[in-house]
Amino acid sequence: MSEHVSIQRTGTSLELTLNRPDKKNAITGDMYRAMAFAILSAEADRQVRSIVFSGNGNAFCSGNDLQDFLSAPLSDDAPVLTFLKAISSTSKVMIAAVHGPCVGIGATLLLHCDYVAAAPSAMLAFNFVKIALVPEAASSLLLARTVGRLKAAELLLTGEPVAAQEARALGLVSAVCAEGEQLTAARAFARKLDALPPEALVATRKLLQAKSRTVSARIDEEVEVFKHQLASAEFKEAVAAFMQKRAPKY
Ligand code: COA
Repeated sequence: MSEHVSIQRTGTSLELTLNRPDKKNAITGDMYRAMAFAILSAEADRQVRSIVFSGNGNAFCSGNDLQDFLSAPLSDDAPVLTFLKAISSTSKVMIAAVHGPCVGIGATLLLHCDYVAAAPSAMLAFNFVKIALVPEAASSLLLARTVGRLKAAELLLTGEPVAAQEARALGLVSAVCAEGEQLTAARAFARKLDALPPEALVATRKLLQAKSRTVSARIDEEVEVFKHQLASAEFKEAVAAFMQKRAPKY
């Protein structure tokens, strides 16, 4: 575990708060390990519907700890790789509340999120080339999908930062809120999920991440999941609740 990440359950959310403000929340191996463990453990907990990332101090995250990069080679079992596996494979809804610098993994993590609430101070930078590195966390793929190939090329080749409003226009953040309100906005999104049927939620998130790329393949994939949901207890409960004009109990 790490003193630099605070991990807590708030309702149906697992909240992961980067807590190394003196280093702008640069992430160390211990921090990756702690977050990966929490995310993987949450997978087995049906009650957890979302994972909410935020940062203490005046930055969301300044990326991987550069000292760590210098002192340890990237081995196959490096904590950062376990973390990347965890964020790219979780079935939970991923939410981020960002402000100030969001650099390196602090920006690429957002490409794996389903909702990003940003303060006006948020500044996203995919600055890998600037420090003689290359994109990670599948950002060379996901960024182009989000902002288009040319803009992705510009952002990844130059490493120039993108401010909150532009990030919103590009589809990199969901909403820009008042300074200091980003966690409240992120939690408000998480609370929208509280009353929803958990299996349908997980299945929908998995479909959003599905690999099939053609319309017909995706229809086939959806139909399989749809059939499963039609036979589920939660669908029966949802319809019964609708007919009886009451709130469903999942
Ligand atoms: N790894 C380790 N330490 C980091 C760090 C990182 N990624 N980012 C910042 N820090 C440390 C600084 O070395 C400094 O430490 P010190 O007080 O002991 O000197 C402290 O955090 C504050 O950083 P500073 O640069 O003074 O803050 P700032 O507000 O002027 O700038 C950033 C904030 C994030 C824009 C800037 O620190 C930065 O560009 N960091 C490097 C980002 C990076 O390249 N990350 C790796 C991506 S793969």
